[in-house]
Amino acid sequence: MKKVSPAAASKSKKIDLLPPIISPLSPKRLDNEEEILPANLRPKKFNEFIGQKSIVEKLQIFIRAARERHEPIDHSLLLGPPGLGKTTLANVIAAEMGVQIKITSGPVITRAGDVAALLTGLKFGDILFIDEIHRLSKAVEEVLYPAMEDYHFDVLVGKGPTARSIRLKVQPFTLIGATTREGDISAPLRGRFGVISRIDYYSVDELGELIKSVSTRLDFPVNEDAAIEIAKRARGTPRVAIRLFKRMRDVAQVEKSPAISLEVVQKGMDMLKIDRLGLDYIDRKILEILIHRFDGGPVSLDTLAVSVGEEADTIYDVYEAFLIQIGFLARTNRGRIATKYAFDFLGVKPPSKNGPVQSSLMEI
Ligand SMILES: Nc1ncnc2c1ncn2[C@@H]1O[C@H](COP(=O)(O)OP(=O)(O)O)[C@@H](O)[C@H]1O
Ligand SMILES: [Mg+2]
Repeated sequence: MKKVSPAAASKSKKIDLLPPIISPLSPKRLDNEEEILPANLRPKKFNEFIGQKSIVEKLQIFIRAARERHEPIDHSLLLGPPGLGKTTLANVIAAEMGVQIKITSGPVITRAGDVAALLTGLKFGDILFIDEIHRLSKAVEEVLYPAMEDYHFDVLVGKGPTARSIRLKVQPFTLIGATTREGDISAPLRGRFGVISRIDYYSVDELGELIKSVSTRLDFPVNEDAAIEIAKRARGTPRVAIRLFKRMRDVAQVEKSPAISLEVVQKGMDMLKIDRLGLDYIDRKILEILIHRFDGGPVSLDTLAVSVGEEADTIYDVYEAFLIQIGFLARTNRGRIATKYAFDFLGVKPPSKNGPVQSSLMEI
């Protein structure tokens, strides 16, 4: 997300569209807050990692086999929306393998030389974690290919006619890539990963379990029914569940309630304008614009983003992804459309025709 200076932000139209006090619940916006969380909130080993049973079982087998052979595990790709545990899982894999993990991200590695520096610093079996791996440049990807396959890479030394290429060796290592954009990964890069894991949204029960464990770790009690109510509104996302728990704890504290009760949750969620499905101001705005302004679509992502006043990337990764998951929105090759459920949700009668009337003319 682009950084905006406070002065520029206060003038920007985008801010004007937001509700007065509380910012919307985008998992991406929570990154800063997460950094100040007590370190013990992040699971370190598989036994603390909730849910994703089939991925965890599969990884445990691969890790065990690799350890027995004294080899690094295969390069692994973690796919899924923000806040579902990709970074956490990469750290857990490193801890279970007993190796170091070096963390970087696609947009940070701009030159081939950056990759070289990263790779040469790795010891046998270490993990190189590249977040947002779909944003690597082609030149950088090309340095990675031989490194991933044969543990060497070529660098160009010198300039002009005297330039020559030298081959450098790297220690056998594991590349773990993470991305929210499965479709944006180039085929050659994707083909070099031995393990591909798609992380899915969590169930209410799993998030309830997470909330109870966070409550124990932060030493603030939560009632069973309240934990489930928070879980229901956490959009299947651990990062959101943790954040909501912390906001409800604030409310309980101010209300002098010794624990987070159902009453506290109801009050807190009303304050945050988060409804029973976990939809917030921006979600509702997306649905309203789609339905009221564009008769249900199709509308292009960019048009939707401009109308809502959010960045297209955030709409795509955070809001749309969840609205699609709950069946309110669909991506078609002509654009985004609201489903019958979205019309029902807003109490609007869907247009009788198949599709909207001349929607493209309305996209001015
Ligand atoms: N399966 C899980 N069990 C427990 N906590 C989790 C789990 N997945 C994610 N979390 C917590 O949720 C937060 C977001 O996870 P993170 O790994 O940063 O997500 P991502 O990298 O996919 O955006 C972290 O604070 C992490 O501790
Ligand atoms: Mg991450």
